Amino acid sequence: MNNTFDAIKISDKVYWVGAIDNEIRDFHGYNASRGTTYNAYLILGEKPVLIDTVKAPFFSEMMARITSIIDPKKISYIISNHAEMDHSGCLLPTIEIIKPEKVFASKMGALALKAHFHQQLDLTEINHGEKFSLGDATFTCIETRMLHWPDSMFTYFANDGILFSQDVFGMHLATYKILAQQNERVVMRYEAMKYFANILLPYTSFVTKILDTLPNFGFDIKILAPDHGPIWNTASDINWIMDLWHKWTQQKSTEKVVIFYDTMWNSTAKMANAIADGVMVENTLVKVMPLSVSHRSDIATELLESGALVIGSPTINQQIFPTVADILCYLKGLKPKNLIGQAFGSYGWGGESINILQEELKNIGIKLFDIPIKTLYVPNDNCLAACRTLGQNIAKELKNSS
Ligand code: FEO
Repeated sequence: MNNTFDAIKISDKVYWVGAIDNEIRDFHGYNASRGTTYNAYLILGEKPVLIDTVKAPFFSEMMARITSIIDPKKISYIISNHAEMDHSGCLLPTIEIIKPEKVFASKMGALALKAHFHQQLDLTEINHGEKFSLGDATFTCIETRMLHWPDSMFTYFANDGILFSQDVFGMHLATYKILAQQNERVVMRYEAMKYFANILLPYTSFVTKILDTLPNFGFDIKILAPDHGPIWNTASDINWIMDLWHKWTQQKSTEKVVIFYDTMWNSTAKMANAIADGVMVENTLVKVMPLSVSHRSDIATELLESGALVIGSPTINQQIFPTVADILCYLKGLKPKNLIGQAFGSYGWGGESINILQEELKNIGIKLFDIPIKTLYVPNDNCLAACRTLGQNIAKELKNSS
């Protein structure tokens, strides 16, 4: 067992015993560009309780952190808040070593865990809102279905006022400063927004519901402990992240335009830059994201606090570029709201990309504004002027509607 890992105390009875993943970048399509943490927590009461585990390759790190403060065999219970494998991937070996009296999960969590492991698992299902004691520790579990899986659950530890919120209020950020107040605010804001935009966006109605109903449970939340990234341990930090989540559920249109495109011989790129220039002269924020250097998850992030999306693609074999199709497929799943948009691109003979882009924009739920612009081969001055005007018109529309 590697004993270079320590448990980190976060309250009177609770220790962080998670793992830090500096190497991960591709998190099933999400670009975790700053790595991540898998947060597991150990409650040292009369009957020690482990809240969640970590991704399978980090099993030894978690066990080493646990071992730094307690013989793992003394842990009496495990509560699994989320079945996804970054938190339950090493549940079986953990059970094998600890041999807990009980493993708790939500009803859907029990179903999901059994469907992952396909073996006999003795799980105790917890009902929504159920309050219970394990030794001298008192808990309440609440189901948070579709935040972001059907099994997702919060666990409130009343003794220390800690809400273990699994993925909710988390972010992908590999940090050795486990408290939010120790980290750079601008980095946390971007990574929290990225997490929300890429993981929670299709489920904003469920986020609203939990934010609205959480006060009804009467929890005195002193610490908000998610399963990724920093822990929120002051009232101002808890309010900060909750207010951001509330704001993001609304997806209000802002005076910001996102332009993404791919290009074959630089013609569509020239058009993109002319559109951006038009937006800029109207003193409106514009983010230009060439797909040669932009990841889908960063595009989704930039869109969360914007008002318009303009997409460019050349026509290739009567289709749009595969790179553009990738982003459109992704956005169709995320379903961003309250955006206007339009299409542009260069072509050599058929010019089908514009109609395809417009249909895709409509399928995403983006309202078409103004007219699309396509040009044969290389944009001339007239075309670039039209692109500039499109940018200006979109910027003016955002100003008028805000
Ligand atoms: Fe961090 Fe949904 O797993």
